[in-house]
Amino acid sequence: MDQLLVALDVDSADRALKLAEHLRGAVGGYKVGKRLFTLEGPSIVRALVERGDRVFLDLKFHDIPNTVATAVAAATSLGVWMINVHASGGRKMMEAARDAAARAAAGRAAPLVIGVTVLTSMNAQALAEVGIAAPVMDHVLRLASLAQEAGLDGVVASPQETAAIRMACGGDFTIVTPGIRGGAAVVSATDDQERTMTAPEAIAAGANYIVVGRPIIAAEDPRGAALKLRTQNEEIRTKT
Ligand code: C5P
Repeated sequence: MDQLLVALDVDSADRALKLAEHLRGAVGGYKVGKRLFTLEGPSIVRALVERGDRVFLDLKFHDIPNTVATAVAAATSLGVWMINVHASGGRKMMEAARDAAARAAAGRAAPLVIGVTVLTSMNAQALAEVGIAAPVMDHVLRLASLAQEAGLDGVVASPQETAAIRMACGGDFTIVTPGIRGGAAVVSATDDQERTMTAPEAIAAGANYIVVGRPIIAAEDPRGAALKLRTQNEEIRTKT
């Protein structure tokens, strides 16, 4: 299932590559986040790209436009398929990111550049503390629309926000949704995801891609868990 992206939230390149090897063909790509990238650097990204994998580099850039543009160009030169920046960095920063990705791709397909709206760890009170009085959903929709106006390809959104963003931004805007639980996505240990949906629910709400970490990477049989998730989605899709 091309829509299933697996978060390689592990602490070594060795473990990440073994997982990727084990899951290849059963999933649509891999997300490399701040921990793995900080520990292993660009070589883990290059190694996955060399093996033909789609890599979503989840570093959530947020800085002045020139700095973000150069970071996005660097990520593009690694051959990543998707990158993200914070939408709260503003229109100019997002435009600079989009332009840098197109320039650095130099004729190849540019990576998808996705905006992060409001972190799911922020609630209304946390937003108010940083000076944003608007309800969380209003702020999410404001940032998603700004990202779209700035020419980004889409946003990362929690399952609860996906349908509203799809309504506001239309069918061509890419929505990437983490927080997948339930159905075939089971975590055995204690879990910190709260506002969750099953994979078919998230897709039905309008997600183009779902990001799944622990329900797959911490499973006894990660490939089996990924295939189960896939089957569950396909069953639901053929019923609807
Ligand atoms: O293990 P789990 O399925 O919760 O992993 C979800 C992945 O998506 C993690 O890498 C997490 O950092 C990321 N993520 C998230 N919620 C967001 C943005 C990213 O869970 N709002």
